[in-house]
Amino acid sequence: MNSQALIDTAKTMVADGKGLLAMDESTPTCDKRFAKWGIPQTVEARRAYRELIVTTPGLGESISGAILYDETIRQKKKDGTPFIEAITEAGIIPGIKVDTGAKDLAGHTGEKITEGLDGLRDRLAEYSQMGARFAKWRAVIAVGNGIPSRGCIEANANALARYAALCQEEGLVPAVEPEVLMEGEHSLARCYEITEDVLRTVFNHLYSQGVMLEGLILKPNMVLPGLACSKQETVDEVADATVKCLLRAVPAAVPGIAFLSGGQSGELASARLNAMNVRFKSQMPWALAFSFGRAIQQPALEIWHGKESNILAAQQALYHRATCNRAARRGTYNAAMETEVSDGAPRAGSPVKVLVSAQ
Ligand code: 13P
Repeated sequence: MNSQALIDTAKTMVADGKGLLAMDESTPTCDKRFAKWGIPQTVEARRAYRELIVTTPGLGESISGAILYDETIRQKKKDGTPFIEAITEAGIIPGIKVDTGAKDLAGHTGEKITEGLDGLRDRLAEYSQMGARFAKWRAVIAVGNGIPSRGCIEANANALARYAALCQEEGLVPAVEPEVLMEGEHSLARCYEITEDVLRTVFNHLYSQGVMLEGLILKPNMVLPGLACSKQETVDEVADATVKCLLRAVPAAVPGIAFLSGGQSGELASARLNAMNVRFKSQMPWALAFSFGRAIQQPALEIWHGKESNILAAQQALYHRATCNRAARRGTYNAAMETEVSDGAPRAGSPVKVLVSAQ
């Protein structure tokens, strides 16, 4: 293991106000999102969509790394250039999702365990050979009546730590993703309590497995009320709860925290990240960045609709969301950005829906 190389990669992933783009939807997830917009669910449609993303002009200005899926990392642009080469040329570090999905956890109704440890060492070696420099593993923690259980939290934390150790052995930076889900009626306070518990448990297991904290990125959820909760806190309240929770549970040796978006709108995700960076800038030992999937891609997917004639407009929308999130990292995002496109021309679409601060 080359520790310095891991540290350098991890630092670069969160440097210069940039963040990560998650474009690693599994085939079933990608197909589900395509189906919603009447886009054909074929290998070629998925390839074309991913080509649209990786060829977006200027994407590397805001995106430091892109997370690919096994199908995607093997695909090429229409002109024959492998995606991984196109990404690298754009100044973006290629990454790869390496878990094989969340399955029902035996003996724990309603809870999941993420699988993929069997044969992982060999798969990591292959991805590394192909040019990947970091790898993601997502654990999901559902919130509900009596859950999450200790058994679910411990099993997922242990799997995350074993995957992270294998990644570092292979020279890949682990992007450790324990996601407390937004689905449910739970309050922000309950999400806080569970997120703190999950993070503490994950770091205990990372320590037990000898994972070097300086050579990983944490990819957590923000601390949010459940989607069906009647009380939805303001942007500033979410920012305060999230950073306070992270300050308690995430060691200062970790170079960067890059949030997943988890189903928030693009505008809310940017506004919340911005508020965290505005309100806590001088108090945070780690860089606070983004690793959004839907919160960057969603408008582009909707505009594209599977049609070649929409590619340019879709790329503009993708570039716009990436730029908004770069601003959010610096604490310079504001709602007015949502009515402009990158070139200053007005953007079609509805005005931003952001809960304003109570303060
Ligand atoms: P979302 O931002 O859409 O939650 O995706 C991030 C991710 O990588 C999920 O594993």
